[in-house]
Amino acid sequence: MNRPLDSRSALLTQADSAAALTPAYKETVLAVIAHHQHSPGALLPILHEIQEHLGYLPPQAFALIADALRQTRAEIQGVVSFYPHFRQTAPGRSQLQICRAEACQARGARALEQYVQARLKLGYHQTSADQEYSLEPVYCLGNCACGPSMRVNDEVIGRVTPERFERLLDELTTQPLEIS
Ligand code: FES
Repeated sequence: MNRPLDSRSALLTQADSAAALTPAYKETVLAVIAHHQHSPGALLPILHEIQEHLGYLPPQAFALIADALRQTRAEIQGVVSFYPHFRQTAPGRSQLQICRAEACQARGARALEQYVQARLKLGYHQTSADQEYSLEPVYCLGNCACGPSMRVNDEVIGRVTPERFERLLDELTTQPLEIS
């Protein structure tokens, strides 16, 4: 099942402030579970698809997954925690990844990550308090010859310097003018 992106945004808005799963989130989680639960090795496809739809894995969903797969909640939590790819908190509106693999490190990725972390006051796997940015490490973006590389949402960008990063931030925070 594929929900359109605007539907996903609505789901995110509804669930961000909710302590429990919203009805829309629960519907999505149950639909994904139903789609995979009788397949062998269903857990990882379920986790990937829920994260694809919701942007993260709400911990409130673990009990539903555990029930369906006849596993314990702790087992689900263990798998989620094992893979850095899985998020347990809602991502920021802009998702930033910095490549930490060898080729980018040889081209200045360490200095770049220090700059970005200090600039955003964020460590890896954190989201800013205003929900604007999430910062994640990544290990190769297939752009090794042009390091240091970052992904900003869906776009891979090479040769990122502090100056270029500042321009990227400007672009992310600039709202298009609405002329009526
Ligand atoms: S090592 Fe950074 S893109 Fe490949």
